Amino acid sequence: MAEAVPSPRTDDTKAPDEQKKVHRAETKTKTTVEAKRQGPTLEIIKADERVRTYIRSANQQTGAIGYTEHGERHANTSADGARFILKSLGHEARRCELGAIAAYLHDIGNVITREKHGQTGALLSKDILDALGFPTEEVAIVMGAIANHEESEGGLPVSAVSAAVIIADKSDVHRSRVRNPKTTAFDIHDRVNYAATASEIKVSRKEKLITLELTVDTEVAPIMEYFEIFLPRMMLSRRAAEFLHCSFALVINNTRLL
Ligand SMILES: [Fe+2]
Ligand SMILES: [Fe+2]
Repeated sequence: MAEAVPSPRTDDTKAPDEQKKVHRAETKTKTTVEAKRQGPTLEIIKADERVRTYIRSANQQTGAIGYTEHGERHANTSADGARFILKSLGHEARRCELGAIAAYLHDIGNVITREKHGQTGALLSKDILDALGFPTEEVAIVMGAIANHEESEGGLPVSAVSAAVIIADKSDVHRSRVRNPKTTAFDIHDRVNYAATASEIKVSRKEKLITLELTVDTEVAPIMEYFEIFLPRMMLSRRAAEFLHCSFALVINNTRLL
């Protein structure tokens, strides 16, 4: 009897393997019609010439002093993450939009100086949001979120929007953020970022759990180095999750560590 020819393994993801390795390259969540009806949106912010120029310059300047990528990629990833967190937890459409806007703008203060960039960024954003017609109440929420995103500047979650911005920002650890072309010249930050080949936020509304899942190449950086750098960020993320009435979990290479 002739042996049955095995059928080729079908890929039901409809996505090439490489795409799975990219850190949230595509926007998972979009501005809803409801949020658009209620006021200006992230799209208006992204199209604004001042915002584009400041983020571009902030990225160049952080690069000049040896920091990882802080440009549109990080802004988009953070915006997408913050919106995703709030939406997954069932927050109203307008709050999800404000989360995305605050996250998109959170590092804009680097155009002035790295030090206190949360606070300078909040004030820079205020002028832009005012000019674009955002209601003062929304400007206040966004300012508070931007000013409180940095653990090294005493940032703490002060609103649901702020909590979502913190988690989305701190979870953006990825190889693509490293700008140093020489792996032999990597410092510990470069090494840890370079070691992260995949990073994903998961939100379970039912379990009230926010999980950061990372895939780390331990040949590039041992897990201990990750903790050396990221423990304060993870502690702030945990406080942010608590603000959202959730627990926070950190999973690295399929092992839960926090
Ligand atoms: Fe920052
Ligand atoms: Fe950031």
